[in-house]
Amino acid sequence: MKRDFISILDFENELDEVLDLAIRLKAKIKGGDEFRPLRGKHLGMIFEKPSLRTRVSFEIGFSHLGGTALYLSPNEIQVGKRESVYDVAKVISRYVDIIMYRAFSNEVMRELAANADVPVVNGLDDLEHPCQIMADLQTVKEHKGKLEGLKLAYLGDGNNVCNSLLLGCATVGMHLSVGCPPGYEPDAGILEKAKEIASREGLDIEVVADTIQAVKDADVIYTDTWVSMGDEAEIEQRKLVFPPFQVNSRLVSHAKPDYIFLHCLPAHRNEEVTDEIMDSEHSVVFDQAENRMWAQMAIMLRLLKP
Ligand code: CP
Ligand code: NVA
Repeated sequence: MKRDFISILDFENELDEVLDLAIRLKAKIKGGDEFRPLRGKHLGMIFEKPSLRTRVSFEIGFSHLGGTALYLSPNEIQVGKRESVYDVAKVISRYVDIIMYRAFSNEVMRELAANADVPVVNGLDDLEHPCQIMADLQTVKEHKGKLEGLKLAYLGDGNNVCNSLLLGCATVGMHLSVGCPPGYEPDAGILEKAKEIASREGLDIEVVADTIQAVKDADVIYTDTWVSMGDEAEIEQRKLVFPPFQVNSRLVSHAKPDYIFLHCLPAHRNEEVTDEIMDSEHSVVFDQAENRMWAQMAIMLRLLKP
């Protein structure tokens, strides 16, 4: 049976193992070892939205493992428009061994995965960004030496990144406080699921409008754009609502002195985060961007089980 990675919960019982594989792969390949278990394999990458990190890290990561990746831009396949989602899934499965899909809709993502005969990896949709959160957790683990018991504070929009963080943090035993404006909370179903996991593990998960409460004693501070891809029509409204949620030196003074700062990027400097924080010694955003590649290599190895 083929497996997909659409939600971070698809790895609920093996998240630590996959993160450790990513860390080992990074050490091995950066140490100069060749490791090409995916020789002869092909990755098809379907993009409905722009990308720097996802496109480059999937393509280069797959080639590190010996395979070949094909980039399909937003104008090409037009999933569900030029032909049905079902037909796209069936046809592309005849050519490639694994699909990465960046989609507008989680519903279409799931329809493609349900009909594809090869594994599908979610490279971002409107509900989740699970590959991002695997890289984020890897980065926290590398910098803090552990995940369990740490507190992550997420400031800003309760978007796809925030949703996957809720599920990911609860699964690995991290406390999470989301500081967001009323009306911009994370997905209700995901929040409920994260709280259910958290209560089993004795973790605190909260969504608050008070930024200081969110950041208090945090080990990790995380933010993302106020206007996600697909939300562009709301840009003016959002720019009025979100400024009090900016990550700046005043706000981070409430975190632990050795906090680290994460951002999935692209950043809008001096909107959701100031230059001062982005460029501070606390910021590990470029390690985090690099880890997209190692985490996804581990994810694809897991799904393809060479
Ligand atoms: N963080 C992230 O997914 O970046 P891209 O949109 O550039 O791929
Ligand atoms: N929340 C952002 C993440 C970009 C990587 C978006 O969906 O546009």
